[in-house]
Amino acid sequence: MRIVIVKSIKEVVLEAVDFVFKEIWKKPNLVLGLATGKTMIPFYKELVLAYKNSKIDFSEIKSFNLDEYLGFNEDDKKSLRYFMDINLFNKINIKKENIHFLNGSAKNIELECRNYEKEIKKTGGIDLQILGIGRNGHIGFNEPGSSFKSKTRKVKLSDTTLRDNKVKIKYALTMGLATIMQAKKIILLANGKHKADAIAAAIRGNVNEKVPASILKKHKDATFIIDKYAASKL
Ligand code: GLP
Repeated sequence: MRIVIVKSIKEVVLEAVDFVFKEIWKKPNLVLGLATGKTMIPFYKELVLAYKNSKIDFSEIKSFNLDEYLGFNEDDKKSLRYFMDINLFNKINIKKENIHFLNGSAKNIELECRNYEKEIKKTGGIDLQILGIGRNGHIGFNEPGSSFKSKTRKVKLSDTTLRDNKVKIKYALTMGLATIMQAKKIILLANGKHKADAIAAAIRGNVNEKVPASILKKHKDATFIIDKYAASKL
């Protein structure tokens, strides 16, 4: 695992955009795994800027988002899909048919999750997965205790996550830890003191299901891009 420590969130996002830029330059039809959360807002802003400056072309890119709240779809303003639309998708030239999202309001949730796994496989797998990290070490919505073998499924959100994300929905659909680990490359972005414990547990601690992000130590091409505050307990 590679760890890049920089001064501020600004530098975290610049490093990450540069990473994405290089991957898309090598493979214009890259399959991108995307995340939501506050950390991603400045990152998507910078990606949009790179698109506007003609640095990145998303016309051949395919995307798969990590997760969605149960019961929600793109029509709901509180959905993660809506978050992605307003922060990224509506502002770049990604084709609508190339955007893949879990439908939280699907009638048959198990089938929806199984089909998502199939769709990922059909594209040849995720080339670059972008991740944030929860204060409790979660990635996607894989809360502490999630099996390292987990696939895309319905999960119950922890109290910490409900509080941090300011949502009342208790369940979500998420790619599993095994799904995430199949990505060819992974970058995890984190900033701020409130992430320091989670970052330390993921990097310094044992690989342990109590700390979902610790699984990334077993990935052959994972990079943590974090600011000095998130790195302060390393
Ligand atoms: C949510 C998402 C995660 C994300 C985490 C961190 O729970 N499901 O994918 O990594 O939040 O969020 P933030 O960047 O807001 O701290």
